[in-house]
This record gives sequence, structure tokens and C-alpha cells, in this order.
Amino acid sequence: MIKVEDLYKSYGETVAVDGISFTAEPGRIFGLLGPNGAGKTTSIDCISGVHKPTSGRILVGDLDIVRNARQAKAQMGVVPQEVALYEEVSARENLHFWGGACGLRGADLKSRAGEVLELTGLIDRADDAVKKFSGGMKRRLNFGCGIMHRPPVLLLDEPSVGIDPQSRVRLLDLVREQASAGVTVLYTTHYMEEAESLCDELAIIDHGTILADGSLDELRSLVGEKDMVKLTGTFDPAEVSRALGDNLPEIEIMESDEAALLVSMSDAAGNLAALLGVLQENGVVLRETSVRRPSLETLFIKMTGKELRE
Ligand SMILES: Nc1ncnc2c1ncn2[C@@H]1O[C@H](COP(=O)(O)OP(=O)(O)OP(=O)(O)O)[C@@H](O)[C@H]1O
Ligand SMILES: [Mg+2]
Repeated sequence: MIKVEDLYKSYGETVAVDGISFTAEPGRIFGLLGPNGAGKTTSIDCISGVHKPTSGRILVGDLDIVRNARQAKAQMGVVPQEVALYEEVSARENLHFWGGACGLRGADLKSRAGEVLELTGLIDRADDAVKKFSGGMKRRLNFGCGIMHRPPVLLLDEPSVGIDPQSRVRLLDLVREQASAGVTVLYTTHYMEEAESLCDELAIIDHGTILADGSLDELRSLVGEKDMVKLTGTFDPAEVSRALGDNLPEIEIMESDEAALLVSMSDAAGNLAALLGVLQENGVVLRETSVRRPSLETLFIKMTGKELRE
């Protein structure tokens, strides 16, 4: 289990994490979903003991990461955002190094490295230098290093960024297998679809704070049954706001500028004609219209007032 209570972390003037709390349970995948600079890596670094929190408390199982750093760290496997591998040596040697650093020795170290090479699908390339690996293979090996000592808690910081679709599928399956085996998994990502397909529990984070959290169903229920409609064209935002307010007050404007309008409305299919009619009567020139069903993405927009920045 990981329990984070009111965690703050600032770097000088920059507040990277601004009071977050959550609990990740064994056997489940807890996702931290947020855009660049949201505070995901800072949170992971505080939990893994790389950085000391400015304030707040982090428990790994019963162990406080600040007071019982050594024991708490031994419970955790960390897969960092930046791949941390020795390029000049083989995959197997990298695993031996990381396993050794976590206390594995002798026959156990060797057999575990073999097991992890099988698991990650790298056994055929086990003795090749890592510098000859593709990005996806390095990502899988990076993951393998994190699980060498069979940690009951696994922290994964955007482990699938920049990998090919096949490696991604394999990596996500590996993460699911860890959770099925009872491991507590904390997984950060800025991929909406990944969060939706992988995580049992999710917190949406931006600017160092958690905007919403819960199971996928709980989060979806926050969106309600409203659809999102995105329109592009030429708009006068003040005029749009007045026209919709007067004629269709049930429609909520989420984002509005000269080139695009994003609204939240119930039964978009049935009510779209009325919306387009009001806009056109008020001088809007429309180019494209798209309707999105309620999803995590719509929740994210509702919470932050913007689309997930890449
Ligand atoms: N070592 C540091 N010194 C100063 N500021 C930092 C440092 N590390 C992170 N920050 C700042 O803290 C904030 C959160 O950064 P963090 O790396 O935690 O975000 P992130 O969610 O992991 O983003 P990304 O998706 O880009 O990896 C950002 O404003 C960042 O500039
Ligand atoms: Mg990061």
C-alpha cells in the first residue's frame, strides 16, 4: 500500500506538488493522469525517497519514507521516466546490476534475471549491448530492472512514452500481471486512453493538485450524461456567450475563442440543430462540428477548462 497525506513539494519558488493525498491499494493499479509539469514525477520522486517532501507524510506499507527510508525503499521498485540503463553492457548485465543493488545474490540473482528477460520478451537479445536496442526494448528492460527484486510496491513514471504499439501492449500487460500478483502499482501517464484501459483507480492532477479522483466509473459519473460538442469556425466569444445565454441557457460553454467553441450539452444528437441555428443566426461562420460522448477526456476538460496538453 502507498498512502500519501497532504504532500507538498516546492523547488525554491516553484510549487511542484501542492497538497495531494491518495491511497494506492495492493493488487490494484492507481493512475496519476496529468499534463506536462503537473507534478507527476515530483510525486513519484517524493514517494520513492529521491526527494524529501517539503511537508506531508508518505507511508509505504507501515513505513514512513522519511523516517524509515532504507526499509521503505526496499519495498519499492521504481521505473523512472528517463530510461536508466548502462548502454555499453548487455540487458542481462543491467539486470544483474540492478538486482544486485537491491540485495539479490548468486543463483537467485541469475535465475531472476533469466525470468525477467523471459517476462519482458528480451531473452533472445539478453546478451546484446543495450545501445543496440530499440526504444521499446529499452523501455521493457527499464521496467525489468524495476521488478528484479520482486517489490510489493511498483512506481512507474510514464513508462510507455515513445514506444512502438507492440511494446506498449506488452508493457501494459506486464503491469497488469504485477497488479494481479498482488503488487501495489502507481502509474503516471499523460495518455488518456492508457489511463482508461489500465487503471483501477485514478487521480487527475494538474498544477500540483488533484482535481478529481476515484474509480473510472466514479469519475465518469462526475461528467454526468452530458456530451461535448466542439465547433470550429469564426466566432465572437462575447456574442456567442450572449446568444447562447439568451436562447439555450442549458448549454454550458467550456472553452471559447475566435476560432473554436467547446460546449457541454445533454443529448447532442437531438439538440445540435438548435445550437447550430442560434449560432448561425448570430453571425457565426461554422467550419467543423464534432460530438464526443462523456469520457475521462470530457471530465478533464470540465475540471481544468482545457484539453489535455501534450
Ligand atoms: N529539480 C527541479 N527544480 C526546479 N523545478 C522543478 C524541478 N523538477 C520539477 N520542477 C518543476 O515542478 C513542476 C512539476 O514538474 P514534474 O516534473 O513533477 O511534472 P510532470 O507531471 O512529471 O511532467 P512531465 O509530464 O513533463 O514529466 C514543473 O513546474 C517543473 O518545472
Ligand atoms: Mg514527469
